[in-house]
Amino acid sequence: MELRHLRYFVAVADEKNFTRAAERLNIAQPPLSRQIQQLEEELGVVLIEKGSRPLRLTEAGQFFHAHAQELLDKAQDLKAMTRRVGKIERKLSIGFVASTLYGLLPEIVRRFRDRYQAVDISFHELTTVEQLKALKDGTIDVGFGRLKGEDAAIRRIVLREEPLIVALPVGHRLTRVPGALKMSELMDDPLIVYPKTPRPSFADQVLATFRERMLVPRQVIEVRELQIAIGLVGAGQGIAIVPDSLQGMIRTDVVYKPLDDRQAISPIIFSARAMDRSQELADMLAIIYEIYEERQIPHVREEL
Ligand code: BEZ
Repeated sequence: MELRHLRYFVAVADEKNFTRAAERLNIAQPPLSRQIQQLEEELGVVLIEKGSRPLRLTEAGQFFHAHAQELLDKAQDLKAMTRRVGKIERKLSIGFVASTLYGLLPEIVRRFRDRYQAVDISFHELTTVEQLKALKDGTIDVGFGRLKGEDAAIRRIVLREEPLIVALPVGHRLTRVPGALKMSELMDDPLIVYPKTPRPSFADQVLATFRERMLVPRQVIEVRELQIAIGLVGAGQGIAIVPDSLQGMIRTDVVYKPLDDRQAISPIIFSARAMDRSQELADMLAIIYEIYEERQIPHVREEL
């Protein structure tokens, strides 16, 4: 059994259809069917229920699918890591969600750059979901995102939990309410959420925060990205729930107010390939914790 067999089987299982799987793999359908048949013969078990449309996996097929995917992820991980180890120059490619750029990310990177001048740093603005793919294909080495999730190929560390705040148009009646706002006070305005795609995203985190409090926003407007959400708030189209870091995005047409709800938070998550134990990642993590400690930012320290 070769990696090719695993790739072919996973494509068929994901697509539930031989024609679509062959298209995805860029091969003709007859050789694909033959390879799956060979695989079943070698294993001596039936993996796909005969005659099922759409295709259904047998119990053995489901077991094989889960583990084949894991092995493929590991092979991908091995490829990216070996390339990284083999490189003489030190590189660190960082994926980040836009909101982190208004918080501590610039300071973290400045400090890293000053201390490790030989490391070549590059940046990619990516949603959390996009970061996972970019980690697996080796485009980035570390991602700073906001969504939790399980993936055996990815090591995730929750760096800290950031309070959510509300962005209001300047002159909005709620800007005159003293102190923090209750989530229930936000029901009269359209809620602007981002990013619209890919999902799940920070938009779902915000919508879940309302749902968990049995609150239903009057209208939800989904937009492509953070800057558009804040621009529309400035234009008076609605309000937005954003991480506290956004206070770093100073605009004359937007006012930020805290929320009177300690559970309304968004985590900042460090993601790396599960096998990556490189010095650059350890140095980056150490600088993050150093800054948290200097600023007395609550966090729970984890090792790489
Ligand atoms: C933070 O704000 O805590 C943070 C932002 C980017 C990377 C790491 C941490």
